[in-house]
Amino acid sequence: MSKQIIRNKGLLNRPIGVFDSGLGGLTVVRELIKRLPNEDILYFGDLARLPYGIKSKEQIVQFSCANTDFLYDKGIKGLVVACNSSASASMRILRKRHAINLVDVIMPAACEAVSQTRRGRIGVIGTQATMLSKAYDKAIMKIAPKMKVFSQACPLFVPLVEEGWLKGEITRKIVKTYLTPLMRHRIDTLILGCTHYPLLKKLIQQTVGSQVRLIDSAGPTVKHLKNILGQARLLTERVRRGRLSVYVTDRPGNFVKVGERFLGRHFSEIRLLRAKAIPNLN
Ligand code: DGL
Repeated sequence: MSKQIIRNKGLLNRPIGVFDSGLGGLTVVRELIKRLPNEDILYFGDLARLPYGIKSKEQIVQFSCANTDFLYDKGIKGLVVACNSSASASMRILRKRHAINLVDVIMPAACEAVSQTRRGRIGVIGTQATMLSKAYDKAIMKIAPKMKVFSQACPLFVPLVEEGWLKGEITRKIVKTYLTPLMRHRIDTLILGCTHYPLLKKLIQQTVGSQVRLIDSAGPTVKHLKNILGQARLLTERVRRGRLSVYVTDRPGNFVKVGERFLGRHFSEIRLLRAKAIPNLN
């Protein structure tokens, strides 16, 4: 995992930035609130350009750079790229772009899967962009070359989550249709390689059965971030509860309803960004 650590005392009480195309990154935010409750969080949801996972690599890189620039300019002390589609396309570019404590969700989830698997048969589900990039296959091969990795794109999961269709017969059937071919490979561990998917965790677990371990990137990612900020001596010593401020690039609609229900708390603030705040947003 990346070891680049930026120490800058002036950043101590600055927020942690998190971005995703929409609701998915809130799975990481929930874990951040649990493990680092006093930190302020700036969340960026790119609703205007969602979904990312069906777009080309060039487009995704462009969006990811714009989102990172926006949050960097806010003076954050660390950034979580809480979107697998963005991370698989653009981490190398983002690392060169700014000197920032930067964490993504792919390597932490891959490490967790390798440590959890019993028979070395790991399934990965994610968006088309992430699956095409083979980012998980590469990450797993780097740490444990003997593992067998089987992947499956599930493009309908993101719209289901954004609509708040987290249960019910239609969603159950779609989940089953995507996961049945994967189960034929007798996987024992399944990486939820899109941050939207933990919102469908219950249905996914019911479909694959309790013997398959589900890997949600949120826990290992936040642990990794905490480690980096700790080494940089940038964990706040404040004792008040952190604020969660949200920026979105289009009318929030379902985002607030589904997001607040998932987090079990209200957003301290939600702001709609104007086109001029983000390049290439028309
Ligand atoms: N949640 C994102 C991911 O982890 C993006 C989903 C999308 O916008 O397609 O890939």
